[in-house]
Amino acid sequence: MLRIDIPVPSVVVLMGASGAGKSSFARSFFGPTEILSSDRFRALVADDENNQAATSDAFELLYLVARKRLRRKRLCVIDATNIRERDRAGYVALAREFGCPAVAIILDPGIDVCIERTKARSDRDISREIVRQQYSELQESLHSLNHEGYSQLWYLREASIAAITVALQAGSPQRPISPAGETD
Ligand code: GTP
Ligand code: MG
Repeated sequence: MLRIDIPVPSVVVLMGASGAGKSSFARSFFGPTEILSSDRFRALVADDENNQAATSDAFELLYLVARKRLRRKRLCVIDATNIRERDRAGYVALAREFGCPAVAIILDPGIDVCIERTKARSDRDISREIVRQQYSELQESLHSLNHEGYSQLWYLREASIAAITVALQAGSPQRPISPAGETD
């Protein structure tokens, strides 16, 4: 059994193409309030997880909630595709701002599995081409992940996704955070 020790607080950045299993993975190991899902925030503002026009508002809220949580030293698990470096750089910056680690977890069950699972879904209509594009963009950006500032990097293929356990390490040492001058 492979164990991932997650410091708390930290920012856990899930990465993977559509159908890679990010939301399922998140639900297996983290509490509902620890998971900040871009789809969930789309639904909160537009009543539709798939409404791409709500993306900007959804991420604005996601960051706002992440900041409020990190100020309280709560874990933040970012459930979004996070395919390109520019999609995910903000989370490393956020972790740095709050003096806690950023942990990258890449889910890669393989392109065929991503396509099969996406095809089988009734809640979402994502074309095979889009899944392929997401998958190959993430593959291309894997080499840069080492230099993006994550304190842990986990690359999980299908077999290891099934064999993983996650343990939260509460009260992990962190740099003191100066008050942000904001009242809650
Ligand atoms: P997007 O939100 O579209 O980016 O996808 P995602 O990466 O969050 O994938 P999600 O967790 O929603 O999984 C997609 C589909 O695959 C769902 O129907 C899941 O039930 C299924 N699925 C996810 N993980 C596994 C797994 O480990 N095994 C099997 N058999 N099915 C899985
Ligand atoms: Mg999902």
